[in-house]
Amino acid sequence: MEIKITKDYQEMSELAAKEVAKVLAEVKQPVLGLATGSTPVGLYEELSKMELDFSKTVSVNLDEYIGLDGNHPQSYRYFMNEKLFNHINIDKKNTYVPDGSLADSQKAARDYEELLSKLGRIDLQILGIGNNGHIGFNEPDRALSLPTHVVKLEESTIEANARFFDSIDEVPKEAITMGVGSILKAKKIIVLASGKAKASIIKSLVDEYVSTELPASLLKFHPNVLLIIDQAAASLLD
Ligand code: PGA
Repeated sequence: MEIKITKDYQEMSELAAKEVAKVLAEVKQPVLGLATGSTPVGLYEELSKMELDFSKTVSVNLDEYIGLDGNHPQSYRYFMNEKLFNHINIDKKNTYVPDGSLADSQKAARDYEELLSKLGRIDLQILGIGNNGHIGFNEPDRALSLPTHVVKLEESTIEANARFFDSIDEVPKEAITMGVGSILKAKKIIVLASGKAKASIIKSLVDEYVSTELPASLLKFHPNVLLIIDQAAASLLD
């Protein structure tokens, strides 16, 4: 895992945006793997400003809450439209987010994995990291599913995400997420982390053994991972 430490959140976002721009310049029909959460918001702001050509780009998002349809302001589909897709020239038909509104979530997950197989590759996958080490919604566990699947969210994840909802009771308890297997198929992976609150999990990620109890550590099996973190998130590293 290569690590780049930036001065602050803005520099982290700019560096990540340059990496995305590189893929758009190099690949004719780029497939981007995208993430939600607070961390990539700055990256999406940069991409919106850069006037890049996304007309040939396909995007696949990591995850979606079960029970929220795409018009719900806390759904990840809505988030992506608001933070990125409405500001760039991507064709929304080419933007994919798992569908958490269907009655049969298991089927929605299987269909999403089939879509990923059909696309055949993700040129660049953007990831955040949860305080518990999750990537996407792959929560720490004794075993992890490889393909896209339905997950029960950890209490700590529900608490962390409650800040976006009126009350913690409104936070969905389940989600559809790309599995670690789906994620590891990406050609290149960028993990973003910013702020003191992430310092401890970043130290664990760098220092500890690979374990399904720290899902992000499985990225150590991937040959092309770039960790872009700001000084605050890097502050506990040796
Ligand atoms: P955050 O979430 O970017 O809002 O910190 C990261 C994550 O949970 O993956």
